[in-house]
Amino acid sequence: MSIAIKIALAALIASSVSGPVLAGGADLYVEKNCIACHGANGDKPVMNAYPRIGGQSEMYLLAQMKDIKTGARNNSHSLAMKNVMGNVSDSEMATIAGWLSKQSQ
Ligand code: HEC
Repeated sequence: MSIAIKIALAALIASSVSGPVLAGGADLYVEKNCIACHGANGDKPVMNAYPRIGGQSEMYLLAQMKDIKTGARNNSHSLAMKNVMGNVSDSEMATIAGWLSKQSQ
């Protein structure tokens, strides 16, 4: 059996064991409306005052999302996003941060 087939089989087994497929970062990013302000891959904010988030480090992105959600980060622009974050759980934030960090800047 070739290595490629073994890897494909291992992935298939792993995915069937892990149960229902959870929404990926790309789906959540659209579903939670992040795309409306930050652009398709986090690289085209709708306003110059909004940050580009695609390709930023995963840990940084997650920390900023949490801080905006809790209000620890609070400036004249934070409120626009804070309202959305009430509808985003910690695990959803982590999934989105992981996906965003892999987008190009
Ligand atoms: C209504 C517009 C809006 C929406 C919707 C929105 N954001 Fe934001 N986001 C902003 C603004 C404005 C800031 C800058 C806020 C600040 O400086 O505190 C920001 C900041 C961020 C930051 C910090 C960036 C940095 O460089 O520090 C991250 C990460 C982020 N948003 C991710 C998301 C994710 C993920 C979603 C969807 C769950 C989302 N945003 C939805 C407007 C929005």
